[in-house]
Amino acid sequence: MHRRLMRTIATVAVSSLLGINGVVGAAAPMITSSPRLEDAIAPRADACTFSGSLGYSSASVSKASCSTIVLSSLQVPGGKTLNLEGLKDGTTVVFEGTTTFGYAAWEGSLFSVSGNKITVKGAEGSVLDGQGALYWDGLGGSGGVIKPKFFKANHLNDSVLEGITIKNAPKNSFSLNYVYNLTVNDVTVDDRDGESLGKNTDAFNINNADGVTITGAKVWNQDDCVAINSGNNIYFGSGFCSGGHGLSIGSIGSQTVNMVSNVTFADSTVQKSQQSVRIKTISGATGTVQNITYRNIFLDGAGVNAAYSDYGIIVTQSYSGTSGKPTNGVTVTGFVLQNVTGTVGSDAVRVYIECGVGSCSDWSWSGVNVTGGKKSTTCQNVASGGGVSC
Ligand SMILES: *[C@@H]1O[C@H](CO)[C@@H](O)[C@H](O)[C@H]1NC(C)=O
Ligand SMILES: *[C@@H]1O[C@H](CO)[C@@H](O)[C@H](O)[C@H]1NC(C)=O
Ligand SMILES: *[C@@H]1O[C@H](CO)[C@@H](O)[C@H](O)[C@H]1NC(C)=O
Ligand SMILES: *[C@@H]1O[C@H](CO)[C@@H](O)[C@H](O)[C@H]1NC(C)=O
Ligand SMILES: *[C@@H]1O[C@H](CO)[C@@H](O)[C@H](O)[C@H]1NC(C)=O
Ligand SMILES: *[C@@H]1O[C@H](CO)[C@@H](O)[C@H](O)[C@H]1NC(C)=O
Repeated sequence: MHRRLMRTIATVAVSSLLGINGVVGAAAPMITSSPRLEDAIAPRADACTFSGSLGYSSASVSKASCSTIVLSSLQVPGGKTLNLEGLKDGTTVVFEGTTTFGYAAWEGSLFSVSGNKITVKGAEGSVLDGQGALYWDGLGGSGGVIKPKFFKANHLNDSVLEGITIKNAPKNSFSLNYVYNLTVNDVTVDDRDGESLGKNTDAFNINNADGVTITGAKVWNQDDCVAINSGNNIYFGSGFCSGGHGLSIGSIGSQTVNMVSNVTFADSTVQKSQQSVRIKTISGATGTVQNITYRNIFLDGAGVNAAYSDYGIIVTQSYSGTSGKPTNGVTVTGFVLQNVTGTVGSDAVRVYIECGVGSCSDWSWSGVNVTGGKKSTTCQNVASGGGVSC
């Protein structure tokens, strides 16, 4: 086993020098053919397969020599990043089988990718297993064991993430930062095992983004399903979010540029969540939140644990500050709700709005019908008109 592995690594190194074609086999090491003239002048190998416990380091070393990188049942040791940053334009990365990431108390990330025109795919049945249960202590990112972030896609342009399944993330799953024209199709984040001890297991954190389309995502977690801190032209559709903190704009105020515009959440179900539709701006922050639409959103919160469910729809401008004391440095305009229906848990508040003086305007709500729970008696500075009621 060990010798086979060493040969695989040597093969990858040699083929990247000579430009020899690697042939992809299921979980098998790379097979080489005799060098041919066209291979000798080819800039890089067609496909390289990396596997086992040393595959992570040979993949990092040889990544620029492969147009397709197959990561087959890798065991990435704790404390190491599976580093696919700086890939050549047009590279395809395929996860096969179960990729496990060993335990280490560190910040991560467990996986990192960057480049232009990159495709990262999960093959049928593949799983990236973060072994979250080894970390979860109910304290998330604010205490206890230091937990790594999982999937870092920063500085990624005109690229696609597809069919990736993350299981048991120690904390945050997808960090999408400095991404331009990124398409994310049919990814799954399954942190159901963290129901009692998982925390801050956000599925998608989006910062400094322009042009992100996420469709068909399925998420079971214990924090935001989506959290957008800064970015423009973002679409999340046909999604399913369960157990977490909903579809969120913010928290706004932590970035250099605190601006979010043209975001649409459409055709999605938010199940058993602490809140479902959420805009949160940090107390004292400045910024702009403009043109945010939630369309055809179903709140599936009937019978949710009363101690857990808080709100159906919430806009708060006192985040991280004093609840009930909103500030007005972040404007929230063009907030559109269309056909947002369903039920919240019995102790939850259906709609809660606390805006600063004059900071919320030009909202338009139609077809909002949330049942169950309670009506708020403490909404403040609600945008006038536009069918908004609190
Ligand atoms: C991605 O596009 C942005 C915006 O055009 C650019 O600033 C950045 O350098 C590009 N990133 C890469 C990795 O080429
Ligand atoms: C994003 O896509 C648009 C439309 O296809 C294109 O005009 C723009 O240059 C792209 N931006 C980046 C940073 O690649
Ligand atoms: C808003 O973003 C979507 C992508 O989600 C894009 O198709 C559309 O053109 C953008 N609208 C404006 C006004 O920029
Ligand atoms: C917001 O929407 C309005 C009305 O559709 C449009 O005029 C404006 O350009 C949009 N702004 C941004 C930043 O998308
Ligand atoms: C309202 O949204 C739900 C999903 O939440 C969808 O099934 C229904 O068709 C939508 N109704 C209209 C009139 O679009
Ligand atoms: C709101 O939804 C409830 C439950 O589905 C339904 O009984 C009620 O008729 C709806 N109200 C409006 C105004 O559509």
